[in-house]
Amino acid sequence: QKDPLVLFMPSGRRGRFAKGTPVLDAARQLGVYIESVCGGRGICGRCQIEAQEGHFAKHGISSAADHLSGVTEAENRYAEKRVLVEGRRLSCQALVEGDLVVDVPQDVQINRQIVRKRAETRVIERDPATQLCYIEVEEPDMEKPLGDADRLLHALEKEWGFQKPRIAARLLPQIQKLLRDGEWKVTCAVYTDGRVEGGGPIVTAIFPGFHNVGCGLAVDIGSTTIAAHLTSLLSGRTMASAGAPNPQIRFGEDLMSRVSYVMMNPEGRTQMTKAVRDAIGVLIAELVQGAGITPDDVLEAVFVGNPIMHHLFLGIDPTELGGAPFALAVSDAVSLDAREIGLPINDGAHVYVLPCIAGHVGADAAAVTLAEGPHRADEMTLVVDVGTNAEIVLGNKDRLVAASSPTGPAFEGAEISGGQRAAPGAIERVRIDRETLEPKIKIIGGDEWSNEEGFEKVAQDVGVTGICGSGIIEVVGEMYLAGIIDEDGVIDGSLAAKSERIQPTGRTFSYLLWRGDEAAKSQEIKILQTDIRAIQLAKAALYAGVRLLMDKLGLEQVEAIKLAGAFGSYIDPTYAMVIGLIPDCPIDKVKGVGNAAGTGARMALLNRSYRREIEEVVRKIEKIETAMEPRFQEHFVAAMAFPNKVEAFPNLA
Ligand code: FES
Repeated sequence: QKDPLVLFMPSGRRGRFAKGTPVLDAARQLGVYIESVCGGRGICGRCQIEAQEGHFAKHGISSAADHLSGVTEAENRYAEKRVLVEGRRLSCQALVEGDLVVDVPQDVQINRQIVRKRAETRVIERDPATQLCYIEVEEPDMEKPLGDADRLLHALEKEWGFQKPRIAARLLPQIQKLLRDGEWKVTCAVYTDGRVEGGGPIVTAIFPGFHNVGCGLAVDIGSTTIAAHLTSLLSGRTMASAGAPNPQIRFGEDLMSRVSYVMMNPEGRTQMTKAVRDAIGVLIAELVQGAGITPDDVLEAVFVGNPIMHHLFLGIDPTELGGAPFALAVSDAVSLDAREIGLPINDGAHVYVLPCIAGHVGADAAAVTLAEGPHRADEMTLVVDVGTNAEIVLGNKDRLVAASSPTGPAFEGAEISGGQRAAPGAIERVRIDRETLEPKIKIIGGDEWSNEEGFEKVAQDVGVTGICGSGIIEVVGEMYLAGIIDEDGVIDGSLAAKSERIQPTGRTFSYLLWRGDEAAKSQEIKILQTDIRAIQLAKAALYAGVRLLMDKLGLEQVEAIKLAGAFGSYIDPTYAMVIGLIPDCPIDKVKGVGNAAGTGARMALLNRSYRREIEEVVRKIEKIETAMEPRFQEHFVAAMAFPNKVEAFPNLA
């Protein structure tokens, strides 16, 4: 008779196992990741599974809870102390007795009290580089004069199956005390790179006794904002997220001015490195405190950022990135210890910085690529991360090309007269009546469309404070569709006779989108001719970059578009196409994907195979330097018009 068949869901991996095999062992043999801190002693409760009931004809399995051995003492003990949801079993205790479909729940979460808010809902398959392993170490013996560290490593080998584990030399002075404090029971943080020669398992931290809090940080260093997420390495849940302005702003608003600051000031690089590291330190302290853990519980950190942020964070002079050939000091992924850069987390925590794609296309774009996976797609996919620089990746599983385009800050609401960042009170949606030219708006924080008359009802206390990126795209698109601006973006002054919204302003005209009203706490918002120009320049730069990449791949059409970044998630794809920000594509294939850089960073944090994946992909991406391409200018000029001069947009019809 054949051994029982065990099928693990959701991964779909399966195999036959002798009766009496612990489910946890079966999972390990198939490479199904089930967390375990206590090494199968039934204490940590991390290894929960559920046996699905029913006949799974497709797989030839009839599965039932009683195909598992009976509930053990250890499980009863665990269930008494903590909650073991009805039907759940500890996979280290439950033995295979018959055919089984085993569900590995994604929500095993012991430390409920430390879960504050879930920043992301995406479930990431876990295989973190750092693992917590509880062991019981043999006590010293005069007969066998092996050192404490040696016996500890021996226990790791024996109980956890690590091959030739090592211990960070930094821990040696503390090891005797730690072992004795824990009465020969300790929990080790074991880091396994799994990539480099000699990158075998290494003990990076030791906690006396049984310890089951292990967290990681995913940090996106933007030129204006730093965003950090604290994630449990054990459950994969995001426990807390926080953001702070990048303090380097005081040295230069945009990237190039920060490079010039370094060039002009001998201390510039050091000052900016210190500023960003300090700010990250403050964010970490805030996150750790909020989550009710200690800095020592943070055992891994992953960082992403554009090339200049990446260099400054690592303490590298970014001067070379200021001009052709935009040479990166290092493009491959960087690994180091937290204490080398003074991060206030566990001294032995491992820091991983994603690779940079090119001198203008950074580790943030690599993270977006990892999250959105154009390299896994059949469709020709365009991924755009819109910020002050748009980073663009185009292609599919066969070939990928990347570039960046100098869009400037217009899409973030800067350089626009009434512009502001996306925040409550900002106009985010606009419709203009084609006949009367009267507008209707929707603001962030208000749910309904409104005109000036009915506005008070909609947003009594917020008021209209400005217009954000997505609002600007819509107002320009609507002005074009309503005939207020022509193909070249010029406001038609003759309409002033028809509508008082069109007003002479200097030598040009403007469109009055919103009348100021003190009672309703509302600002006057006008769309000036210079605002239209700023949008034209930004969208033409983006489009020209995209077009260059399409030329490179010999494409006339892209099949899917993913818009990353806060701005990308809010813009309406139709308007993005109306103004010619993105190339023609079936509208239902254009998606805002939110904070994809943050998601990519969390993926690299929670699963080391994603690190390998993105390193390989980045090596293969063909990089194009827009500034060096003669056709960029040509495309740029053509793309200034609405939607633009040369391309057809059949999907807009
Ligand atoms: Fe710890 Fe099962 S592995 S309870």
